[in-house]
Amino acid sequence: MKKDFLSIADYSKDEILRLFDITKELKDKTRRKEEHHLCKGLSMSMIFAKPSARTRISFETGMYQLGGYALYLSPADIGIGAREAIKDIAQVISRYNDIIMARLFAHAHILELAKYATVPVINGLTDYNHPCQVMADIYTVLEHRTNLNDLKVVFIGDGNNVANSWINLAAKLPMHLVICSPSGYEPDAGTLQYARSQSISTIEILSDPVSAVKDADVVYTDVWASMGQEAEAAKRKKIFIPFQVNSALMKHARKDAYVMHCLPAHRGDEITDEVIDSAQSIVFDEAENRMHVQKAIIVKLLNKM
Ligand code: CP
Ligand code: NVA
Repeated sequence: MKKDFLSIADYSKDEILRLFDITKELKDKTRRKEEHHLCKGLSMSMIFAKPSARTRISFETGMYQLGGYALYLSPADIGIGAREAIKDIAQVISRYNDIIMARLFAHAHILELAKYATVPVINGLTDYNHPCQVMADIYTVLEHRTNLNDLKVVFIGDGNNVANSWINLAAKLPMHLVICSPSGYEPDAGTLQYARSQSISTIEILSDPVSAVKDADVVYTDVWASMGQEAEAAKRKKIFIPFQVNSALMKHARKDAYVMHCLPAHRGDEITDEVIDSAQSIVFDEAENRMHVQKAIIVKLLNKM
């Protein structure tokens, strides 16, 4: 049976930690410029229904470093679900490529793609979640902290795809996770209920940023309007202003708290220049680790490690 990477919820704690072992090994090899062509002769289609910098660059470069080949399919190319039915394109690509990465709008679409594809499918973001991002995020935290003991992560802002993946992660690895959002912009209720039912982490939903960041080890934020929500941007900006991560707010977190952002950042909106450019910010380590973690996911799904 082929395995996909669609949600952290589909992976056990041991599987997640194994992926991190592989990540470390591949990252070390990459740093040493040591060849690691584990996917020689293999190819990956990358379907993008939304824009991307990091996801495209990190997957395409990562597949190259693994000795394989990655094809970029832009939003104009396939017209997934419009020009062509998902179940058809899933079966067609499965005849050409060994693995698929897709960034789509509806989460139901990636589930359908994975259902009909006979090769593994990796989720490169949907409206619901962004699992590769949060895997890279927690890997980055582990690099900086070595363990997760008493880790408090505070996500400030929209209860969006990235927030939902953090909640899914908290169902697997122990932490104190706080999602601090304005009323009406909380994360997915079903995901929250599932994660709390696992009794692995303490998960709080708060609406006051100052009390939320108290004792935080990690202060995380993301854009106020995600891709696809551009028409709501002006309205959201008014609502989210009190949720800006700025130096005044950071004074309430631990002095050595890390600042994280999945990027792209809207500097001056959800995060100020002085915070994202501060010594506490690990956003570029986070961005780099997208590639190393995703390479681990690819080699695992292709049974190469
Ligand atoms: N963080 C992230 O997924 O970035 P892109 O949208 O640029 O791929
Ligand atoms: N929440 C953002 C994440 C971008 C990587 C979006 O979906 O646009």
